[in-house]
Amino acid sequence: AFRAGLLRFDDEGRAQYDADGLLVTGPAPDGRQLVRAAGPYARLQGNFPGVAVESLPGRIIAPGFVDLHIHFPQLDVIGSPAPGLLPWLENYTFPHEARFADPAHAEALAGFFLDELLRHGVTTALAFCTSHPSSVDALMAESERRGLRMIAGKVLQDRHSPDGVRDQTEQSLVDTEALISRWHGRERLGYAITPRFAPSCSEAQLRGAGALAAKYPDVWIQSHVAENLDEVRWVRELFPASRSYLSVYEDFGLLRERALYAHCIHFDDEDRALMRARGAAAAVSPTSNLFLGSGFFDFEGAQRVGFLHGLASDVGGGTSFSPFHTMLAAYYVGREGQTKPGLSLSPQRLWWLHTAGAAQALRLDGVVGNLQPGCEADFVVLDPACTPLLARKTAAARDLDELLFSMIVLGDDRLVESVHIGGRPWIAA
Ligand code: GUN
Ligand code: FE
Repeated sequence: AFRAGLLRFDDEGRAQYDADGLLVTGPAPDGRQLVRAAGPYARLQGNFPGVAVESLPGRIIAPGFVDLHIHFPQLDVIGSPAPGLLPWLENYTFPHEARFADPAHAEALAGFFLDELLRHGVTTALAFCTSHPSSVDALMAESERRGLRMIAGKVLQDRHSPDGVRDQTEQSLVDTEALISRWHGRERLGYAITPRFAPSCSEAQLRGAGALAAKYPDVWIQSHVAENLDEVRWVRELFPASRSYLSVYEDFGLLRERALYAHCIHFDDEDRALMRARGAAAAVSPTSNLFLGSGFFDFEGAQRVGFLHGLASDVGGGTSFSPFHTMLAAYYVGREGQTKPGLSLSPQRLWWLHTAGAAQALRLDGVVGNLQPGCEADFVVLDPACTPLLARKTAAARDLDELLFSMIVLGDDRLVESVHIGGRPWIAA
């Protein structure tokens, strides 16, 4: 058990905060470490006689962050300048991903990638690997070693892709199914069927992906949609029969619950309504969208129509692993095009979108991204005095919004003092 400030969310997404809180964890019958109790220290302290309590004065315990979209092989792509998405893919991303044909390269980087996520307080992610199946094996094996709840998949891209990353239609589907059997549901791991984006997949490959998605309904789906205007135009040429870019995925059976689509920027209300009707979710990636000049996700539109969405780094189009940087960028993006008075996105909402709200988008609410009883015990310990300015700002905060906003605006990896995975402290290699 831990005594500290304690942040979690109720079912309506409202933050609950105890300045003097108690978090009690314990094993479930299946061996997972779960939250047993979370609440005010004064109320709970008598309920757990014999349980040792570690006091963390001045610290805040919060749910581990959930990153809804990130590319494992794009560590070294961060910060690569390009006029827009398509030249960025061609000149930087594909050449870097081609190096993952060598399994030793993927194995060498998997630990680095996961440690980078954890250092920044991210305990669950939905990750693209590369088209090489061994890149999935490398990331999954390292995730399992750390006890992480990770979801990842082999990228499908059998056309409009250079040698070195392009896969073969039939083999790519055989490989995907083999990876599902090997990894999905093993320990805390999950698999995601991963068509890169519509332009990089033949109709046969999209059809095959849709068939697998129907055969394995609890496997996730991840892709990109409506990120960039040149890309949207290209999709219109390639798939003239589909109503919109999003409809291409609908037409191949790739819109359903547990389907996560990165970006969702150039949408109309019919697209938004389709997302909602299918129970699919957007992985909003504001640092990537600002860096690549892709556009601005319409948070008001998403709320108005009511489709699921949460936050994501999209490293390496995204510029940071830090959930604090992503939340701040989401705030900026929400400001753009804002029509309602007041804050575009409240600090509580931003934080929820990267924790419990992101878990809901994955249909993992009550499992990760929160610290209610029954949730898996993945959490961060934040030190709000980690920098002189943050210490001043957080000490002067008069309410929860001011406290959270100080951390969103000024926070980075220094704020994350420690990380617990499944109730156990994570120690960097
Ligand atoms: N669209 C297709 N591939 C990618 C990718 O790797 N990153 C981003 N941001 N968009 C894509
Ligand atoms: Fe991406």
